[in-house]
Amino acid sequence: MEKTYLKVYGTYDFSVKETFIFNNIVEKAKKILKRFSYKEIILPILEKENVFIRSIGTTTDIVEKQIFMIKRKDEDDEKIVLRPEGTAQVVRYYLENSIYKTNDFSKFFYIGPMFRGERPQKGRLRQFHHIGVEAVGSKSPFLDAEIIILALKILEEIGVKDKILEINSLGCRKDKENFSKTIREKLINKKTELCKICYERFDKNPLRILDCKEEKCREIVKNLDIIKEKSYLCKDCLVDYKKVIDILNSLNISYVDNPFLVRGLDYYTNTVFEITSKKLGAQNAIGAGGRYNNLIKDLSDIDIPAIGFALGIERIMLVLDKIEFSDKIDVYIATIGESAKYKGFSLLSKLRENGFISDIDFRDKSIKSQLRYAQKNNAKFVIIIGPDELKNNVFILKDMEKSFQVNVKEDEIFLKLKELC
Ligand code: HAM
Repeated sequence: MEKTYLKVYGTYDFSVKETFIFNNIVEKAKKILKRFSYKEIILPILEKENVFIRSIGTTTDIVEKQIFMIKRKDEDDEKIVLRPEGTAQVVRYYLENSIYKTNDFSKFFYIGPMFRGERPQKGRLRQFHHIGVEAVGSKSPFLDAEIIILALKILEEIGVKDKILEINSLGCRKDKENFSKTIREKLINKKTELCKICYERFDKNPLRILDCKEEKCREIVKNLDIIKEKSYLCKDCLVDYKKVIDILNSLNISYVDNPFLVRGLDYYTNTVFEITSKKLGAQNAIGAGGRYNNLIKDLSDIDIPAIGFALGIERIMLVLDKIEFSDKIDVYIATIGESAKYKGFSLLSKLRENGFISDIDFRDKSIKSQLRYAQKNNAKFVIIIGPDELKNNVFILKDMEKSFQVNVKEDEIFLKLKELC
């Protein structure tokens, strides 16, 4: 018989412990984001396809083959998709709500699932989660620095060690065009030696050849002078990039200036960066981002620069050291007989109201197996109520960690618990 309980290819089930870790990451990230004065927004998972096509770029992997389409059974005129990333979506939100009319500078963050139909492997899923940040309305290199520092601070707070910051500048749109043209000129004689994907990229998106992981492509681009010297940058873009680097230097932030870093989304201009970890395999970026100074203008007629990044929660989880996880119950109530159960159930409510993580048996098990359950579920204390205890208005309080038990009067139980906890 075909199993009907298999998850969708490329999705991931978080266990109880993993969900705890996930939430812990989100909490720590939010703490830092708040400190940096970024404001949270929650946007839909569903978007119109064209939000992404024009912004991410028609020749990118995401747009060419990874977008999941959603179709209502009786409706097929509107192309709705599962969002593959958040930047284009935040820009859509920003423009649709004319945020620029009331705020000429905005700092947003969002946390949620993204969807890309990629071939799954370690660190690469079809549904994954972003902690994303977008700062809209400034070209200042200090904002570039803040964005990079913020990404690093969040990772530091979460406990990600041994991360490497890689940084580059793609220049303005004109620089990018010149850069692409020069790459074509320089590589024209080597075109047939490129891998199959880069052969296609040569005409459509030559910058992407620079970050190809194939050895033969790396060898070909390795010695391109234009890249090493960043001579494709215009004066203003070079000055801005140098400022970003100066600010990072002044704060003793280590980085690798990686001239081959180009990113896989078309909207990027100027500063781009990735934070990588050696603990990950081929998919080694824990997070990445950069400027997108033309995107808002491309989708509207308003010229507003912006910058942002996104961290991949699943990748963070892969590189984290062991995390302390506790699913301890403070008090478990074990009862003998129906009347004791009533008493126990009422005590359970009071315990919960007083903030104790507490539970009771729901399966009419023997006292022995109730105690076994309590032990298995790491209960610190068990309160036992049987016919004798009912009669005398006392409870047996058993300390499971220290292995002793005492009789406690019903009206003194909270005092005793607080004393022992
Ligand atoms: P991205 O590089 O496509 O950038 O994604 C950011 C991060 O999401 C990656 O560095 C990685 O950690 C994680 N990630 C990406 N794809 C997957 C996947 N298939 N499975 C698991 N994790 C994945 C963006 O999406 C841009 N919107 C970031 C940005 C914001 N740029 C400016 N603002």
